[in-house]
Amino acid sequence: MNEVLKTIAARSSIRAYKDEKLTDEEIRAVVTAGLQAPTARNEREIHFTVLDGADPILKEIDTERKLIMAAGADEETRAKIESNPNNFYYGAPTVIILSADKDFFWNKLDAGIAVENMSLAAQSLGLGNLIIGIIDKAMNGEKREYFAEKLDFPENYEFAIAFAVGYPDTTKEPHEIDFDKDVTIIK
Ligand SMILES: Cc1cc2nc3c(=O)[nH]c(=O)nc-3n(C[C@H](O)[C@H](O)[C@H](O)COP(=O)(O)O)c2cc1C
Repeated sequence: MNEVLKTIAARSSIRAYKDEKLTDEEIRAVVTAGLQAPTARNEREIHFTVLDGADPILKEIDTERKLIMAAGADEETRAKIESNPNNFYYGAPTVIILSADKDFFWNKLDAGIAVENMSLAAQSLGLGNLIIGIIDKAMNGEKREYFAEKLDFPENYEFAIAFAVGYPDTTKEPHEIDFDKDVTIIK
């Protein structure tokens, strides 16, 4: 297996991180992989906001996420959400928020491709990482404009997907695949 295929096969979602910052070079390498992803029509409509895991805006986003998730939930679920010690990025030292042009048809697909490029780049550098969609309602809810401004989204951009990265403090086997069930080969 070549190195790219090995990296793809070894990747898994990491939900525990060491309390250690990444180097600027590591962060730059990961974001560069996102920028190098293909986009429809070569539109390159994805913006990357890089945040330190300790940035207070992340706490605000997480609080909003929890509020939205708890609203309408039954009491038991609400108690679980409120008592969960994890934030949405599991304490990773770096969080990258991808935003994209609201009016471009392929915006979310392009962001998905970019974030997977970043995930594989991080994996290849020995970094744990997690793709994060759970803040979508918080980012696109009542506080949408406030968050967009704080995160320096370009004009007419909206949240697409988020990404956590750091030194892993856990290991996780890659998920199982079922080639025969999920693939049709028409000959
Ligand atoms: C679009 C997308 C959104 C995701 N959002 C979250 C999330 O908000 N929180 C989380 O813990 N994992 C999230 N994940 C990770 C998935 O749960 C994970 O990829 C899946 O369980 C398979 O596990 P693996 O990545 O270890 O193979 C997301 C993955 C994708 C592709």
